[in-house]
Amino acid sequence: MMKEYTDILAIETSCDETAAAVVRDGHEVLSNIIYTQIAEHTVYGGVVPEIASRRHIEKINYVIEAALNEAKMTLQDVDAVAVTYGPGLVGALLVGVAEAKALAWAAGKPLVGVNHIEGHIAANYIEHPELKPPYLGLIVSGGHTHLIIVKDYAEFEILGRTVDDAAGEAYDKVARAIGLGYPGGPKIDRVAKEGDPYAISFPKAKVNGSEYDFSFSGLKSAVLNYLNHARMAGEEVPKADLAASFQKAVVDVLCEHTIAAAKQYGIREIAMAGGVSANSALRAGMADAAAKAGCTLYVPSPVYCTDNAAMIGAAAYYEYRKGVRSGWDLNAVPGLRLGKR
Ligand code: KG4
Ligand code: ZN
Repeated sequence: MMKEYTDILAIETSCDETAAAVVRDGHEVLSNIIYTQIAEHTVYGGVVPEIASRRHIEKINYVIEAALNEAKMTLQDVDAVAVTYGPGLVGALLVGVAEAKALAWAAGKPLVGVNHIEGHIAANYIEHPELKPPYLGLIVSGGHTHLIIVKDYAEFEILGRTVDDAAGEAYDKVARAIGLGYPGGPKIDRVAKEGDPYAISFPKAKVNGSEYDFSFSGLKSAVLNYLNHARMAGEEVPKADLAASFQKAVVDVLCEHTIAAAKQYGIREIAMAGGVSANSALRAGMADAAAKAGCTLYVPSPVYCTDNAAMIGAAAYYEYRKGVRSGWDLNAVPGLRLGKR
């Protein structure tokens, strides 16, 4: 009898989350297990690659077993094994890639290598199966800031990207500077709710002459300068106002570029993705901007915004359906770019 569904076991170890999931037909999440190492890295103020790799090695088998158990499956029941092979930390990626190759080979299943950024975008298909290309995508994470046109499943045109720090990186650096600790995004999100976004005027995070590119290092420097001045003058730093004002500068530019692109290209559907798309001010700001422009906004639930394997299983489904199969020589590609294999 023909099997009715395509079930994919997906593995994600590109940074500090050890994750595995079983996803049916690219959107039905049968299990989604995430072992987060965040607490361990917090004491160092950021992700320590060596610790991340070691932890992945220790946890990966348990995480995969838990994902299969929760989906009430064995390895034999899945149709393919998918894994993030880039971009990310090389040592961390290698753990997932080696594990996926070993499992797929042992079970006689096809192997599908997935681009992590493509995974973030595909997170939208999980809860919004009605979302179909073409649409505009904004990916904002700790390592990436991309404004793209998703022309087809797994086919992308990049309109703009950050020329320096990623949006999440800016959140993390500013949070560290004001003593909030790692990871900074969720902390700034919380503290900013108590502050006035108009209290301090920070420069727009833009690049001159490049319509859709982003630059966050100038904004970060402006925040650091503000802090230095305040400290030298012996003034107390208004943390909440500073967090809210910084956040407003980031949210404004993300919304402005996205809406401008939607208008220029005549696209009415926008999907956000990546860790920073869990940000409450960005979700509210983009929803507002999209509504005013007559666009529909899609955003994953916060659990699918930050790193997880369900999104890798969703992206893998479309690659698998297209006939993409990785060889046993699949390797980690730390600098993997979007739109190229
Ligand atoms: O997508 P992700 O989990 O990992 C990468 O692929 O980079 O994104 C992590 C980033 C971190 O920089 C974190 O501070 C940020 O997403 N982040 C947030 C929020 N939650 C996570 N930034 C702003 N507001 C949030 N609520
Ligand atoms: Zn990510």
